[in-house]
Amino acid sequence: MKIKKIKLLNYRNYDNLEIEFNDNLNIVIGNNAQGKTNLLEAIYVLAVTKSFLSINDKNLIKFNSKFSMIKGLLSGSNFDDELSILLNDNGKTVKINDKEIKKLSDYISKMNVVIFSAEAVRMIKESPSSRRRYLNIQISQINRKYLKCLSDYNIVLRQRNEFLKIINLDKKSDCEYLEILNDKYTDLSIEVYNYRKDYINEINSYIEDIFYKITGLSNIRIAYISNVCCDNNSNNLKEELLKKLDKNLHKELLYKMTFIGPNRDDFYFMLDDKNLSLYGSQGQIRSAILSLKLSEVILFSNKTDESPILLLDDIFSELDINKRNSILGYLDNKKVQTIITTTDIENIKEDMRKNANVYEIENGKIISREIVSSRKGDKNE
Ligand SMILES: Nc1ncnc2c1ncn2[C@@H]1O[C@H](COP(=O)(O)OP(=O)(O)O)[C@@H](O)[C@H]1O
Ligand SMILES: [Mg+2]
Repeated sequence: MKIKKIKLLNYRNYDNLEIEFNDNLNIVIGNNAQGKTNLLEAIYVLAVTKSFLSINDKNLIKFNSKFSMIKGLLSGSNFDDELSILLNDNGKTVKINDKEIKKLSDYISKMNVVIFSAEAVRMIKESPSSRRRYLNIQISQINRKYLKCLSDYNIVLRQRNEFLKIINLDKKSDCEYLEILNDKYTDLSIEVYNYRKDYINEINSYIEDIFYKITGLSNIRIAYISNVCCDNNSNNLKEELLKKLDKNLHKELLYKMTFIGPNRDDFYFMLDDKNLSLYGSQGQIRSAILSLKLSEVILFSNKTDESPILLLDDIFSELDINKRNSILGYLDNKKVQTIITTTDIENIKEDMRKNANVYEIENGKIISREIVSSRKGDKNE
């Protein structure tokens, strides 16, 4: 899929911006703090309904404004849709072709984006909750059933935690109610676990080749850590999980919270069976994350029959020029629409620039634009 154009009103440091993208490469240049990341963030928000930074939606509204609006024209192999998102004091309203979409899962599975930014590097180093948040967003983009399953899981988790505060184990009815909760809780835990496991397994089937192309090193994988299942050969997950809940009940009553379940999930990169965030160099970590992003591009393309839109923020320019340009060449071959930001146009090879829309941004305004006409064979606008 391609984003044809985007319009921003009162978004971050943008008053009113309209920008057209071509189907291939788009380059946004600008000094620091001019709005490059904000623009990629707006495209991301249009797809996912929230920022990749874990912040309040209100931060996206321009200082001293009452609302913020993002509108975009999205084009796929068999659809052309206008997506919009309005943020104000009452929350957010999302629309497809002017029709309000009440179910967020229907909206989020529409437009797929993959972003490579400094935030992704932070995500790897930060707390497990930021990695769970990331997994949740990725999986909901490709599977609209996931959000429902996750929200059902969170409801039962909350109910269970509340009940742990007041339960009286001497009361038969309390024990019975806990059993009912545990039954629901384990079913939903296993469902969430399976979605995440499948996602990571599929990423693992692509990531090693890509990481090898970028670094010349092999033997990388993502380890999914979940206390839902400690033995992959287990054939009765539910029974084992119920046993684990029983075993931990004493501790859970003490802390009044649930310790067993996907609420404790985590993942990390393993290079040669060592945790990359503990032993890897900055360069290796960055390459691992970029490999994860490119794996996502393949996974999304396979799952949805549409390539996602790839957003490469500044950080991409920290890779050496040969790697950078070989990756851009690879994406071009696969016809992945790419939007890249940089402080220095020299970071991108001349022959790549020739086929790109190039925008220069200053203080939330476009100060110059070079638009290329569609290439031969491309779908006309
Ligand atoms: N809600 C907001 N309203 C107005 N300006 C904002 C808002 N949020 C961030 N900014 C401004 O956006 C600028 C940073 O933009 P950013 O896209 O991160 O820059 P860069 O080009 O370095 O990626 C800063 O000047 C910041 O003050
Ligand atoms: Mg930036």
